[in-house]
Amino acid sequence: MENNEIFSSVTNFHTAFINGLDKILSSEDLKPASFNLVFGNAIYHHQEREFLERLESAKAKLAAAIDPNSTDDDSVIFLKLKDMKLDWQNWTMLEDRKINSWNVQLNKFRVLKPRGFSDLLITQVHLPFNGNDFNFNKISDPTLWSGEIIGRKVSLYYNKFPNKDLQTLLVLDPDQNKEQFLTEEDHNFVFEMTSSLSRLYNVSFGYNSLGASASINHLHFHLMIGIEKLPVAEDEWLHNGGSKTYPANIYVFNNPEESWKLIDKLNQKNVAYNILYLPGKVFIFPRKFMGTYKAVPWSTSFGWLQFSGNFTVYDEDAVNRLTEDIINEALQDASIKLEEQTGMGTYITIAKLEDVKEGKPHCVDVEGKSLAVFKVGDEYFATTGICTHAGGPLCQGEIVNGVVTCPWHGSQFDVKNGKVERGPAKDPIKTYKLRKTDTTLEADLV
Ligand code: FES
Repeated sequence: MENNEIFSSVTNFHTAFINGLDKILSSEDLKPASFNLVFGNAIYHHQEREFLERLESAKAKLAAAIDPNSTDDDSVIFLKLKDMKLDWQNWTMLEDRKINSWNVQLNKFRVLKPRGFSDLLITQVHLPFNGNDFNFNKISDPTLWSGEIIGRKVSLYYNKFPNKDLQTLLVLDPDQNKEQFLTEEDHNFVFEMTSSLSRLYNVSFGYNSLGASASINHLHFHLMIGIEKLPVAEDEWLHNGGSKTYPANIYVFNNPEESWKLIDKLNQKNVAYNILYLPGKVFIFPRKFMGTYKAVPWSTSFGWLQFSGNFTVYDEDAVNRLTEDIINEALQDASIKLEEQTGMGTYITIAKLEDVKEGKPHCVDVEGKSLAVFKVGDEYFATTGICTHAGGPLCQGEIVNGVVTCPWHGSQFDVKNGKVERGPAKDPIKTYKLRKTDTTLEADLV
């Protein structure tokens, strides 16, 4: 296979993926860390019989050689792993389920992952690269692939604890030792790379900032190819033109420029975040720093994949107890509202254009606020939904010529600027800046 052919189809990627694992496995001096990495990825490939036979014999060889009293993380994982009952024909290590909108995967291997860097309390999104810490250049196993994509140097590594099949780690400019901190240039590049690879297959890139489940302070992105649609990308959600509100706060952009403005603000304000890049789209999830809220006991720490609607669960009992409400609550809990918690305002989807009709206010409850949204001719306006006189519901009032009348005592307000046109109200109402996408309205809720 020529160097860049790995990306030419999902089949080629899969072949290179398995061949690379096989290469690691055939090392004369196979260590528990390398075996565990191969095993964690192999559980998605139980149909690769020959490869799995080699995996079994490597396991037996390593089991005979290892000191049963070893206490380092990798040996401890291996010692548990070697006693796990593995039946390749009746495979029970993995099971995918759907809980309403969410994808839930029962993964019995993932439970072995020790608590690490990603679970530590980190309350900064920017820390300098430290050559003494673990980084990708210290990995002794061969990389899955190294080369250039659209003129940039890139290395692809296996993920030791993947949540999905063919989930790999892409390190940009590996020899430059960059910290895990997104710059405009790198953000633009990932946006372009996502679109470029999507000509061949479904592709997504994920990014976890420091404090948002990033496990290594060395610039990297998660690459997933050939995957099914992620729950966050489904049409049912308000941010995609549907009617359901996503439980985590989410900001969706169609271009790198606008999305960079938010990322830049988050970087400057030291707000942790996760990003999902899909072809032509960027989904940004501002969230709490790991360790500053109670992580759920039933899953891995929340990163971009969880915010996108995929959850890995360790045991059958936990997965049987999970409900849509439990997942929604967990997402809400890990998420933050920018305005309340950081003082940052930014645009958020509030309505579908088709739902806002001329001559009738449209009621919206978003981020704990009641809004009234109006269509006046070709223009749209949003105001608070609460009258300044005695709290009457403005979105149940009448709108005539750009003036809304409160249904309780008849106060009137100009919806363009909030000015009182008629009492008894004395104070103007708050108005919000709006912008339109093709199908939705977004408001700056400052
Ligand atoms: S509450 Fe609106 S006019 Fe009194």
